[in-house]
Amino acid sequence: MSLLIKGGRVVTAADDYIADVFVDDERISLIGLDLDLPADRVIDARGKYVLPGCVDPHTHLDMPFGGTVTIDDVEAGQISAAFGGTTCHVDFCIQPAGATFAEALAEWRAKADGKQTIDMGYHMAVTDLVNGGTLEELATLPGQGITSYKLFMAYKGALMVDDETLYRTMEVASKTGALVMVHAENGDVVDLLVREALAAGNTSPLYHALTRPPEAEGEATNRAIQLAHLAGAPLYVVHVTCKEAVEPIARAREAGWDVWGETCTQYFFNSLDDIARPNFEGAKYVYSPPVRDASNHDVLWNAVRGDALSVISTDHCAFLWDGQKTLGKDDFSKIPNGGPGLEDRLKMIHHFGVNEGRITLNRMVELLATNPAKLFGLYPRKGSVAVGSDADLVIFDPSREVTISASTHHSKADYSLYEGTKVTGAPDVVVLRGNILVENDELVASPGVGQFVRRARFGEELAQSKTASPA
Ligand code: URP
Ligand code: ZN
Ligand code: ZN
Repeated sequence: MSLLIKGGRVVTAADDYIADVFVDDERISLIGLDLDLPADRVIDARGKYVLPGCVDPHTHLDMPFGGTVTIDDVEAGQISAAFGGTTCHVDFCIQPAGATFAEALAEWRAKADGKQTIDMGYHMAVTDLVNGGTLEELATLPGQGITSYKLFMAYKGALMVDDETLYRTMEVASKTGALVMVHAENGDVVDLLVREALAAGNTSPLYHALTRPPEAEGEATNRAIQLAHLAGAPLYVVHVTCKEAVEPIARAREAGWDVWGETCTQYFFNSLDDIARPNFEGAKYVYSPPVRDASNHDVLWNAVRGDALSVISTDHCAFLWDGQKTLGKDDFSKIPNGGPGLEDRLKMIHHFGVNEGRITLNRMVELLATNPAKLFGLYPRKGSVAVGSDADLVIFDPSREVTISASTHHSKADYSLYEGTKVTGAPDVVVLRGNILVENDELVASPGVGQFVRRARFGEELAQSKTASPA
């Protein structure tokens, strides 16, 4: 199918210009002025932005966690993503205790089979190098297109790894061309603080935040940075929330170390006031690291405007409030950690970041599409509007007014972290490899159009090809 997108304002991380974009056979084949070519479909994009499809490098779909399973499976999560202008994501394949990495991947691939509306890849979350996967097997993953290893420094007794596992994984990454990702909180200290709070009778959601202080995030962030430097591995710190974690990342980057940081939409907007809401409403805002004091909102905007943080993801990890979050009604430590957001990232960052003058339009594209594509081996196939790239495009109406609400979002979550927020600017048409996914607020593609993408090793480019190659 060919597609001619006429007269839009093409915005990439570097450029901003009016042009026509011609798409043929899944890729962008021509960009120019007043293109006069026959096409199966012509879209008038005058007055609209033509953006690269957003790339979300941090999602949890169909994931067992906290005594339950995330409410959005691959089908629901990816449909929600498509409505939000995200056309590619990298989800976490979590190694079950005792399982090999091959077994873990088979289990996660089965969850996605036939359900994909957008393109995707996996990070491998390493949990066990003693009884399950081996260092040798870990080293084979980049050759299979799984080019990032994730380690949890928190969630003691569940996903948390010790420093030896962390460091050994970093050593492997330094040799195989994988990017190491860390959830940086000091899990031992958090676990102790949680037990102390519960023993003192402090059971409400607010104590989730109070037992995971910014210092625990700052300490683990700095530890991971130093260990990665020692091992010679590139490091990506996920979901950074506060000054204590931004500062060591900024220092490392200023020193030229291979360190990058990500924050997530919710950390710009939610705060301790939300998790303290009465009648167990606060449980909606239980995710880790936790909401912080609102003074950190500006810290994060400054960090993404400058060079300290390089990506904004969603960490979409959706649970129902009624029936899943309520598992922790009498004990905050039993509230499943995570919140929805795949659909909201572009609209929220465009409105509060670009419209309100905190970041430029180019920087928004860089944070939501180009940098995640580059860091996770998807560029230049994904993350830009360029000849030869996959035709993953968002035709975005900067003047469209939308109210964000659980009553209209496509996640199965029964609440929104931004309920009632009015924004100006929203996707009109979302395109994946030339296939129209969303138009006029309707899903017009069927699950099955999305594909697995074999990602390139860290620092390498993903060759442009006719179609995404299955991993
Ligand atoms: O609370 C969160 N963030 N849940 C998802 C798992 C993680 O730590 O990223
Ligand atoms: Zn995490
Ligand atoms: Zn996460």
